[in-house]
Amino acid sequence: MKLIRVKDYAELSEQACAYFMERLAAISNPVLGLATGSTPEGLYAKLIEKYNNKEISFKHTTTFNLDEYVGLPPEDVNSYSYYMHEKFFHHIDIPEENVHLLNGVAEDAKKECEAYEALMQKLGPVDIQVLGIGENGHIGFNEPGTPFSSRTHLVNLNESTIKANARFFDSIEEVPTQALSMGIGTILEAKAILLLVSGEKKAEALARLIDGEVNEDFPASILQKHPDVTVIADEAAFGKVRRK
Ligand code: PGA
Repeated sequence: MKLIRVKDYAELSEQACAYFMERLAAISNPVLGLATGSTPEGLYAKLIEKYNNKEISFKHTTTFNLDEYVGLPPEDVNSYSYYMHEKFFHHIDIPEENVHLLNGVAEDAKKECEAYEALMQKLGPVDIQVLGIGENGHIGFNEPGTPFSSRTHLVNLNESTIKANARFFDSIEEVPTQALSMGIGTILEAKAILLLVSGEKKAEALARLIDGEVNEDFPASILQKHPDVTVIADEAAFGKVRRK
């Protein structure tokens, strides 16, 4: 695991963008695994800047998002489909047919997950997977206790995750209680993983990821075993890490 320590969120976003620019230069038809949440917003904004400066094109890029809330259609402002289009896809030249997100309003969640897995097998592997980390160590919506071998599945969200995400909704009652998420086994098939961690609230989680044991109680810990993981984290997030 390669650790990159940066001063603050602005530098984290710059470094994440630099990582993408360098890696993407070597891949002709990249497949990207993308994440939502607050942490990657700056990365997407920086990549849009690069696109506007004609330094990068996404015409031949394919994307798979990590997860989606159950019950929210793509046009719902809190859906991850809406987030991705607003914050990234609408501003770049990626063809809409290359964009893949789980359908949170699919009639049959199991079938939806199986179809997503099949499509990832067909178009993948993912070249670069962007990840955030939950305060409880979740990656995607894989909550503590999820088997490391899990594939794309229906998830019951933890109380702590619902609370953490309530900030995006008018009230906590509106936060969906279920989601569809790539499994941990699915995520680990990415050739490279970029984990972004910002802020004091994530300090405990980052310390456990770096200094702790590999254990299904802490989903992100399995990243220690992946051959190509880069962690970019700011000083506030590094606050509790012991390893030098
Ligand atoms: P955040 O979410 O980027 O909004 O902190 C990360 C996560 O919960 O995986």
